[in-house]
Amino acid sequence: MNKTGDVPQFWEEKYQSGKAYWDLGGPTPVFEELAAGLNNGRVCIIGSGRGYDAIVFAKRGLEVTIVDFAPSAIEAAEREARKAGVTIIARQMDLFYLPGEYSDEFDYVIEQTCFCAIDPGRRREYENVVWRILKTGGKLIGLWFPIDKNHSSEGPPWSVSVAEIKRLFGKRWELEREEFPELSIKPRKGREKLMIFRKLPSLDHFPDWS
Ligand SMILES: C[S@@+](CC[C@H](N)C(=O)[O-])C[C@H]1O[C@@H](n2cnc3c(N)ncnc32)[C@H](O)[C@@H]1O
Repeated sequence: MNKTGDVPQFWEEKYQSGKAYWDLGGPTPVFEELAAGLNNGRVCIIGSGRGYDAIVFAKRGLEVTIVDFAPSAIEAAEREARKAGVTIIARQMDLFYLPGEYSDEFDYVIEQTCFCAIDPGRRREYENVVWRILKTGGKLIGLWFPIDKNHSSEGPPWSVSVAEIKRLFGKRWELEREEFPELSIKPRKGREKLMIFRKLPSLDHFPDWS
């Protein structure tokens, strides 16, 4: 399996050579609409890229942390935040190292084309990280993409299936919302699905019952 996407150099080269084809060049309309309904809490955008959505959430009064291991992405996000006059916390690091520092920290985690960027063999690890950094009751707000890609084709982006996501987030999460958003950008219409999962309380203290 091709694991090149698991190292920052792979993504850094894409940013530097103008091949960041996933980059919307501005905020994501679906997240803009969701952000309009929020006005406080802590949000973490994982695999944030240039972090346009960070500015949207920060302007709503949320405390925003972005995480990406590509230096160019983080620098661009910091520049944009300065221009917009908002404060964000920018972490240039591997998201798989987050939990130790950030356990039970966030009310929201935002996912957009980060999951499909990561080697599929690490999907359980991804679920684990997100579960650990969210507070109980916190939400994973994901635009899951590309759900139309053939399972056997190479990535990144690696294919994502709705059934797999539901299985992965089936045990200690509640699926709160699921839809094909009206506001998906044209090239992703019907190819991405909004699914919001709520972190359930841990059953660690009831070992005989879990
Ligand atoms: C396809 S891009 C999407 C960027 C952004 N979410 C967007 O929609 O524009 C994937 C991003 O995830 C970052 N990434 C991939 N694996 C990562 C990891 N293990 N830790 C931190 N960032 C990671 C890459 O550097 C890249 O910026």
